[in-house]
Amino acid sequence: MAETERSFAIIKPDAVAKGVTGEILARIESNGLAIIALKRLQLSEQEARGFYAVHKERPFFKDLVAFMTSGPIVAVVLEGEGAIGKWRDLMGPTNSDEAPKGTIRGDFGTDIERNASHGSDAPETARLEISYFFNATEIQAPVEAL
Ligand code: RTP
Ligand code: MG
Repeated sequence: MAETERSFAIIKPDAVAKGVTGEILARIESNGLAIIALKRLQLSEQEARGFYAVHKERPFFKDLVAFMTSGPIVAVVLEGEGAIGKWRDLMGPTNSDEAPKGTIRGDFGTDIERNASHGSDAPETARLEISYFFNATEIQAPVEAL
């Protein structure tokens, strides 16, 4: 059985603008992941550059920062068994052009950049990403875990 983990998700500006925030949140909950923190905000350029700093040398970095600051996002902390892998499976592959129907990126994204959602790729990045957006007091464990 997979361990209980936390992951960090972003509903990106394209998906928020399309009005599919609720549908994406419903997929999270109906697949056994708990939403333990959530906020809607618009990233500044500096915040987006910091969040994606790992990609700062990549040719797509400037476009990515422009996209991620283009409108509001919804930031979410997820908790559940194998949450990191489960959320990435629900999202599908990075490129929405190639992502299968039934995945979030396949159903709601447009291309390799405008791909509807973000998910942490490992426990250490999940911890860093969660703390980039949320204080400890903003994160509430599911009721059954108390
Ligand atoms: P994410 O970090 O957003 O969950 O996505 P990922 O792990 O599947 O993909 P990653 O390689 O970390 O890329 C981060 C985000 O940058 C945009 N991207 N654009 N134009 C391009 O070639 C390109 N490649 C990546 C996407 O928005 C991707 O999610
Ligand atoms: Mg990534």
